[in-house]
Amino acid sequence: MGSWVHSSFCVARILGLLLLVGFVPNGGASEEASCDLFKGRWVLDENYPLYNPSSCPFIEREFSCQKNGRPDHFYTQYRWQPHDCDLARFDGVDFLERFREKSIMFVGDSLSRNQWQSLTCMLHSAVPNANYNVTRVDDVSIFTFTDYGLKVMLDRNVYLVDVVREKIGRVLKLDSIVGGKLWKEIDMLIFNTWHWWNRRGPSQPWDYVEVGGRVSKDIDRMVAFEKALMTWAGWVDSNIDPAKTKVFFQGISPSHYNGSQWDEPKARSCVGQKEPLLGSTYPGGLPPALSVLKNALSKITKPVTLLDVTNLSLLRKDGHPSIYGLGGTTAMDCSHWCLCGVPDTWNEILYNFIL
Ligand SMILES: *[C@@H]1O[C@H](CO)[C@@H](O)[C@H](O)[C@H]1NC(C)=O
Ligand SMILES: *[C@@H]1O[C@H](CO)[C@@H](O)[C@H](O)[C@H]1NC(C)=O
Ligand SMILES: *[C@@H]1O[C@H](CO)[C@@H](O)[C@H](O)[C@H]1NC(C)=O
Repeated sequence: MGSWVHSSFCVARILGLLLLVGFVPNGGASEEASCDLFKGRWVLDENYPLYNPSSCPFIEREFSCQKNGRPDHFYTQYRWQPHDCDLARFDGVDFLERFREKSIMFVGDSLSRNQWQSLTCMLHSAVPNANYNVTRVDDVSIFTFTDYGLKVMLDRNVYLVDVVREKIGRVLKLDSIVGGKLWKEIDMLIFNTWHWWNRRGPSQPWDYVEVGGRVSKDIDRMVAFEKALMTWAGWVDSNIDPAKTKVFFQGISPSHYNGSQWDEPKARSCVGQKEPLLGSTYPGGLPPALSVLKNALSKITKPVTLLDVTNLSLLRKDGHPSIYGLGGTTAMDCSHWCLCGVPDTWNEILYNFIL
């Protein structure tokens, strides 16, 4: 005991000396370690957006708010400012160099597609004359920056666990993750699942749910979400080699259909919202799914980084396509995000994690 106290005292003195002479071991990193990139606020910055959406020919109509007639532009010019440090501005050429001959894959639902399209636009606009091609093999869309040998892929897989067609019908198998065969050997994986767990009726893409060998018509959806995340966590622990692959989880992307959550009780949607909430607090609080997700992530032994986009995106009631997505008030969209827009910030933060 005495010698432990003594030796840690010595270590403290040595560190103190090093600090005195201005040597901080791993200086930059220790400053970053104390900065939570997800705690901050939105500020208007005329040097944003990171790209002009008209220079990104492959944005899907669903996210092409300006092309679909959205008249206001301020929502494209907000930059995320963490409280305790600055984010490095996204540098597409640097990103492409770092990922030369490598592969990146987003895995998840249409929010993953939103972030995938954002990243391909951010990279393409940095090298507008570089060659690229886009192909699709089954459920995987592959955007290749051919001059860099970089593949940026999207595996559409809304639950991460399997849905299998059997004699009784389509079975959502919470313990089965055969779909993971597509995720091996990738250099960077960014997962997401949440929005489909509450689907019911005709848009629910399964008839039965199976867990622990028992098949039933339905179970509590939050429990199902948690079971699936634990299955995915087990997949990460048995399949990921951290020396090769970086793993991220996108986090829960919030929707804005209830103005009571941002102190505008009359608002039934995000239509007409032109500004974010300018503080750091969202009156409606965090969605309960986030704590389920964080709990599942805490059980994984391999390194996985949560891109904790929930809080910062909650503040962006102005960022959704609303009637400027697939169009018309019936198809009003307050779940996805305009491009350029909020997912560019998710990718800018992702970039800061790989620097
Ligand atoms: C797209 O790029 C990949 C990788 O360079 C290449 O193998 C493939 O043939 C290209 N496809 C098309 C249609 O050009
Ligand atoms: C909207 O949010 C308020 C406050 O959180 C809640 O009391 C109300 O039930 C919500 N309304 C709907 C339709 O979800
Ligand atoms: C989200 O914001 C709330 C209110 O500002 C804060 O209490 C909470 O810690 C934040 N959560 C995260 C994950 O940053």
